[in-house]
Amino acid sequence: MKLLLIGGGGREHAIAWKLAKSPKVEKIYVAPGNGGTALEDKCENIGLETYEEMAKFVKENNIDLTVVGPEEPLTKGIVDLFKKENLKIFGPEQKAAMLEGSKSFSKDFMRKYNIKTAAYEVFYDSEKAVEYLKSAEYPIVIKADGLAAGKGVSICEDFKQAEDTIKDFMVQDKFKGAGKKIVIEEFLQGVEASILSITDGKTIIPFISAKDHKQIFDGGVGPNTGGMGVIAPNPYVTDEVFEDFEKNIMEPTLTGIREEGFDYKGIIFFGVMITEKGCYLLEYNVRMGDPETQSVLSLMESDLLELIEFSLEEKLNAAEVRWKNGACCNVVLASKGYPEAFEKGFKIEIDPSVKENVFIAGGVIKDEVLVTSGGRVLSVVGVGDTIEAAREKAYSNIDSVTFEGRYFRKDIGVIS
Ligand code: AMP
Ligand code: GLY
Repeated sequence: MKLLLIGGGGREHAIAWKLAKSPKVEKIYVAPGNGGTALEDKCENIGLETYEEMAKFVKENNIDLTVVGPEEPLTKGIVDLFKKENLKIFGPEQKAAMLEGSKSFSKDFMRKYNIKTAAYEVFYDSEKAVEYLKSAEYPIVIKADGLAAGKGVSICEDFKQAEDTIKDFMVQDKFKGAGKKIVIEEFLQGVEASILSITDGKTIIPFISAKDHKQIFDGGVGPNTGGMGVIAPNPYVTDEVFEDFEKNIMEPTLTGIREEGFDYKGIIFFGVMITEKGCYLLEYNVRMGDPETQSVLSLMESDLLELIEFSLEEKLNAAEVRWKNGACCNVVLASKGYPEAFEKGFKIEIDPSVKENVFIAGGVIKDEVLVTSGGRVLSVVGVGDTIEAAREKAYSNIDSVTFEGRYFRKDIGVIS
């Protein structure tokens, strides 16, 4: 089969690496791809701008299947466009992608289908929002309704901070439309878990759980980032937590997808908060997580392409996902200064012995040399029988990957 994979981050490098392992796959075009997919087996990067251009490329080159990595093409309706042209594509239709594309839409869906989530109110008017915040309990959480590149959530400690956030989001329009409408919600205290899963709209098969590490510094302090590392499975997802998740989040979500009549053949990612009062759903993502994917796919034994085919044929009830025993630790190597300003263009050197354990995110090929091009440059993973063994492997693999200004957390996977 010939595939087109859309996206160009660390997640897409991991998806390309995993799909390339399928004996059924002959070639993967990655649009736009990055320095990792450029060097990956069976892969070739391709510059395609619009979704129409992508559809044209697929038809002209007899591509059998398109796989979408990031959320943006999904929320903009790429799946609907491809389906109209009878092209096979893996991802939810636009209506369903609103589960990630609009916070108020997803919260209303959760409420309608009794999915356990934080209490909330939706506001379109900044004055009404400020009025509400005067008598609210703190901390409180304010979320921009639309996509805001992971920056649309503010946890406010007091009224002043909340009022400033409303000004930024709604009045100054910091997110160019995405924060004109907001969700204000109850603050939940707990430990987070990322549960990625695959669905065909009739069945949801959860993948192995994962734990992201969002803050820049060790101990979980400092500003938020796109993710500095992941451990999978998530040590806080015990059997009891998982049962709670299945019963109060996953199953009612499936009921909702069915009753709304969503055409959802894709990935659904549950962002869960494990609290003393059980599991709450923080958010849905309609794509795999980054950097969760790099860990989860490193542990997946099954052929990802076969799972995608099962989903597209609505036969996931007959599928089984097999996992390696043990754990995977993924440490992100970032550019010095990230998440603030940083320099780019430094040469990345990777010893061939760890090639299978490195997924490039912000790296490009320039004059035939792999150089840094982003804040989060790459992930180094380690797989082991236990979390501790996986940690040791990941950190020893890091010794074989160098670039100037390399920064990483030392405590990924440390259980506090
Ligand atoms: P979201 O995009 O809705 O997942 O929010 C991004 C991040 O904000 C989450 O991963 C949490 O760390 C935090 N967050 C979101 N909602 C809440 C909440 N209700 N209580 C506490 N933290 C939250
Ligand atoms: N790592 C969190 C996300 O992909 O949204």
